Amino acid sequence: MHVLGAGSMGCLWAAALTRAGTETRLLLRPGSAKLAACQQGKVVLRVDGCRGSKGNETTATTVHAEALTAGQEADVDQVLVVTKAYSAMNALEMLAPRLKREAVIVVLSNGALALHEQIVRATCLSHVRLVLGITTHGVWSRGPFEIVHAGWGQTRFGTLSVKDTESSDWYRSVLQRLETAGLGAVDEGSNIERCLWLKLAANAAINPLTALEEKPNGFILSCLEARAKVSQICSEVAEVAGALQRNSEQDAQVAKLSGLDLEEFVFQTAQETAENRSSMLQDVAAGRLTEIDYLNGWIASKAKELGMGSGLNAHVTALMKEKEAAMSARKARLA
Ligand code: PAF
Repeated sequence: MHVLGAGSMGCLWAAALTRAGTETRLLLRPGSAKLAACQQGKVVLRVDGCRGSKGNETTATTVHAEALTAGQEADVDQVLVVTKAYSAMNALEMLAPRLKREAVIVVLSNGALALHEQIVRATCLSHVRLVLGITTHGVWSRGPFEIVHAGWGQTRFGTLSVKDTESSDWYRSVLQRLETAGLGAVDEGSNIERCLWLKLAANAAINPLTALEEKPNGFILSCLEARAKVSQICSEVAEVAGALQRNSEQDAQVAKLSGLDLEEFVFQTAQETAENRSSMLQDVAAGRLTEIDYLNGWIASKAKELGMGSGLNAHVTALMKEKEAAMSARKARLA
């Protein structure tokens, strides 16, 4: 299995898959410092583990690594996408000539619903199959190829395609690989759509609210004003989910998701990850782009398309863009 994205989540999965006996290849950007650091097509991934099936442990795993663009021949069967949402499409377009007919792309990045929409529209990716996933594992980077698995979370996979996909050989085989990685992956089948909306709500609420205040995830539990904002964000997400579902006349499970269901999941996630710094807070602190366009920005644009007018998601997107610009200007000044 190829892994696209060598950030903290990519390293966690590449190490776990390799340790489970799956031949795994980490795809790195040509010209990147990470690619230059590899020796003879290999790299050592260090993971400071957390509680989980194997308890606390520090592991060093040697994983194959190669350039994203190496070769033009179709040699990729399965690829796990764990890049930042804003890098995913560009990377997948680069990879497209290497994807075999009916290769499986597993999207585990934040903002998977927005990415799914983009992948389905991309003509260069019309020959692939898609599996989508969510994860709430808390992971952060200590340095290149060195990560801390700070919080054990949930990981769920499934497919939005027709129901009988769930029993097909290709789906079973990819799911089995992901499950044996030992990261507690669960096969949700078509119920993944409901999980994706719940996760989108968690990211749309926890990430910008903690990044704007520069506080760990537990902040949204303790601050009354933040709790009210979580409710508002969740009710807008539920409204968009319901309207999209009614328009597509698909499975009714998502249409039934209420703002309260989403809110409950958001608070549960914040509780489980209370001491973690959200990925968006880590991004702004490092002066990087954030995934806001794939989270609140995507919800706001869907709400607009559906004639719902702009709400808190649009406002939070604008505030995050300002914060992103200020933090990246600060980084440039300090450089
Ligand atoms: O993006 C993140 O930080 C995580 O997905 C989550 C679940 C919000 C926990 O921090």
